[in-house]
Amino acid sequence: MSVTVDVCPLSELPPGAMRLVEHGSLEIGVFNCGGELYAIEDRCSHDDGPLAEGLLDPEACTIECPRHGAIFDLRTGRPRTLPAYEPVDTFPVIIEDDLIKLEVS
Ligand code: FES
Repeated sequence: MSVTVDVCPLSELPPGAMRLVEHGSLEIGVFNCGGELYAIEDRCSHDDGPLAEGLLDPEACTIECPRHGAIFDLRTGRPRTLPAYEPVDTFPVIIEDDLIKLEVS
């Protein structure tokens, strides 16, 4: 069963920004890439690096893991470069009454 998790007002996550949210033991990074919002688990599939703290490229819509440099596509959660080769979890983003929310199962 999925639950809805509040993130923040839409105005607080402008293009190029990231917001970290916690849900139980799960940490999720929410990103604004040129007006499109994406959410991925904040745990690199290579060695559990803090992915959301990495370098965001809003134009390519990618994040670079700060630990060993794997680059992930925020739209799909799939790595584009080694050393990671498995995807990270992604979460649907909902906007309701100007509030950003996530669907987490
Ligand atoms: S932990 Fe992310 S690339 Fe190694």
